[in-house]
Amino acid sequence: MAVNELFEQLDFTENPRYEKIIADLLERQYSITTNFFPEEDVIALRQSLFTKYNEDRFKKAAIGNHFNETIAKTVRGDFIHWLKENDTNPAETNFFVGINDFVDYLNKTCFTGILHKEFHYAIYPKGTCYKRHLDTFQNDDRRKLSVVYYLNEEDWKPEYGGELVLYTKKEDKEYPVIIYPYPGRMVIFESQVLEHEVKPVEKERLSITGWLRTR
Ligand code: OGA
Ligand code: MN
Repeated sequence: MAVNELFEQLDFTENPRYEKIIADLLERQYSITTNFFPEEDVIALRQSLFTKYNEDRFKKAAIGNHFNETIAKTVRGDFIHWLKENDTNPAETNFFVGINDFVDYLNKTCFTGILHKEFHYAIYPKGTCYKRHLDTFQNDDRRKLSVVYYLNEEDWKPEYGGELVLYTKKEDKEYPVIIYPYPGRMVIFESQVLEHEVKPVEKERLSITGWLRTR
């Protein structure tokens, strides 16, 4: 290999956007970004979500194993469609390219060892919520980072509800952080640490949600 090629490989450009996310995560276990993807990407992904929804490809999201339908509904009311990375349309491909770039950066700079990811679209119909929970399952701590990317229309108003509440803690005291699902907002947080909930929505609420996992 030529020396200049070697240098190109060694050359590492710091990415200020990613560094900000990493600093936030280290400091307070969550990060809120508004410019992870450009605005038009939100629109393309929202269209793609609706196309799949109209093709009837969403399913009622489940929780655990032993809940009956009525209980499940009051705990978690969203409908989801899992994305397959090898079967994507251009909007979704673009989304995964961005996520993969971030994961590569994380693994390179923080040795996070993220090897897998899982993402789904989510629709919360009016009147639904997701009660306070942690994103890791019992006996399975592979989920490291939770990622939520909001695909709502431009005019999301506080009275529509649907806030994501992150229950942060400092010296045993709880500090809820309230985050409105504005379009293009991305929230990344530590799956194993932060309990959170989605407050009842007064208007259909749209997102892509996923997890970055170790083996
Ligand atoms: C989840 C979740 C948060 C949100 O799907 O596990 O907590 O804001 N979503 O949609
Ligand atoms: Mn969750």
